[in-house]
Parts: sequence; structure tokens; C-alpha cells
Amino acid sequence: MATTSQNSPAPSDPTSGVRSVTSSGGAPAGIAAGARRVRVHHLRQAKERGEKITMLTAYDAPTAAVIDAAGIDTILVGDSIGNTMLGHATTLPVTLDDMVRAGRAVASVTQRAFGGAGLPFGTYEAGPEQALASAVRVMKETGASAVKLEGGRRSAAQIQAISAAGIPVVGHLGYTPQAENSLGGPRVQGRGDDAAEELSQDALAVQEAGAVAVVLEMLPVEVAARITEFLQIPTIGIGAGPDVDGQVLVWTDMAGMTDWSPRFARRYAELGRVLGQAVADFAAEVRTGAFPAAEHSFQQ
Ligand code: KIV
Repeated sequence: MATTSQNSPAPSDPTSGVRSVTSSGGAPAGIAAGARRVRVHHLRQAKERGEKITMLTAYDAPTAAVIDAAGIDTILVGDSIGNTMLGHATTLPVTLDDMVRAGRAVASVTQRAFGGAGLPFGTYEAGPEQALASAVRVMKETGASAVKLEGGRRSAAQIQAISAAGIPVVGHLGYTPQAENSLGGPRVQGRGDDAAEELSQDALAVQEAGAVAVVLEMLPVEVAARITEFLQIPTIGIGAGPDVDGQVLVWTDMAGMTDWSPRFARRYAELGRVLGQAVADFAAEVRTGAFPAAEHSFQQ
């Protein structure tokens, strides 16, 4: 939390350059009670204790500060930055530079949450060497605590190489947006016995390769529940039903920043509307001369 004395940064803390944020309500009731920071072992402990893990995406410092202060356990700088922030239709054009810049901004204000950054399309598929180089760059230049990459058996060697270098890896199975062209767009994966079995094999491969957690996206409830039961590492669901170890949403979806959110996302606010009203109020007051008032002005 940004505002408690326990976690407030010292004034000289180089990560405290962005305005702090007032917590939205008391001490966060997340996993890792009592710990200053959520670390990788807390994720495994949460699964063992049956405590749900919370995760949201973030792509910039002010939003990450709000999310962290509200007590979210893990913040993912996802390559969903492509279609949520950068104006791309998909995640495919996102570059490592995009992720590094966003990752650094998010890590600079995150005080409690475990932070991960996604490896974008084209930065790990060539093999373990490429994957390790990309992961090392992300870790060196952002301050993230983990990287996330997509794919099961096809990415196992990459997960192994990155993990062996001491970098925690979060896997990503089910609907994997970087493969949207071969998957035929955002569609539920793992329907039917054969597809469910393939996904289970992928989940095992990701775990055996050393991943510390795995995101399960757009799976039937039963398939996600089964994978969650046999895996020792936590599963974080998005459109995968309630029987997983944690839930992740893209923050703009859950906060109602845009007109449309996917069916699996609940809108906890209508921030787009609130922001639009604030902008309209500002413009109206400038036009009438009501802003700026005396208290916003400097005298000689
Ligand atoms: O990139 C991303 O934001 C993600 C989440 C949707 C899990 O992968």
C-alpha cells in the first residue's frame, strides 16, 4: 500500500517518484498477510491454503499505484497493452521496447504486489536462447519479478531456460491471444475430451518446465477445475470459471473504461463515463470562465 507507514517509501527511494495514492479502503486483505511484498513463494502458499489470488493488468504508473494501493496481489504488465493502450487491433505488434517502458513505469510505483511482465509475440518463439535474452532484458530494465509467456508443450524449453536462470515464469494456456490467427480469434478452448486432454498435457508440461503459475484463458469451467486440481502450481483464470486458484482481468474491462467488455469480465465501475463527464465539465467551465478560479491562480 502506498499510504501505510509500513510500506511507505523513504523520501530518497528512487521508486517513489510518482505521486502516492490513497488506498481505497483500509489494509488490503490479500494473500501473504503481514508480508511487505508478495513474493513467488506466497503464490504457492496461497494455493495450498485455498486463498484466492487476485491479479489485474496495468500499463502505467498512476493506474498501477491505484491497483497496488487497493491490495491486489499481483500486477501483470500484459501485452494486452497492444489493444488496450497502443491502438493496435491485437497483441501481435507489441514490441519488447513497449513492454520494457510499461514494465518500468508499473514497477516504479508498485510496493506490495508481485509484478510480472508479458513477453510479446516474436521475442521467445525462436527458442530458449531468444526467450532467455528477452526475459533477462525485461528483468534488468523493468524491476518486474517474473515474466509471462504463452504456450504449453511448444514453449516448455523456453520456460525451462528462463526458470533455470532464476527468473520466475508464468505460463498462459487456453485462448492465447498471440496465437489468435491459428485459433480463429477469441474462442473458448479445450471443449471436448480430446481438446481437454491436450490442454491437460500442456498444463503438465508448463509445470514440469518450472513455471510458478499459469494463466488459463477462456476454458470450460470443468476443464479449468480439473487442471487446477492436478497442478501443484496456482492457476489464474480469465474466463475460466470460479474453480481456479485466482482471477485476472484486464483493468480497463473491469473498470468500464470502454463501451465493450468481454462476457467473462464484470464491470465494477463505469470509469469511462466518469472520465468523460469530468472532461465535459472542465471544457464547460473553461468556456464560461468558471475555471480557473482565484485559488488556481497566482498573484503578483
Ligand atoms: O496480456 C495480458 O493482459 C494477459 C491477461 C489477459 C492475462 O495475458
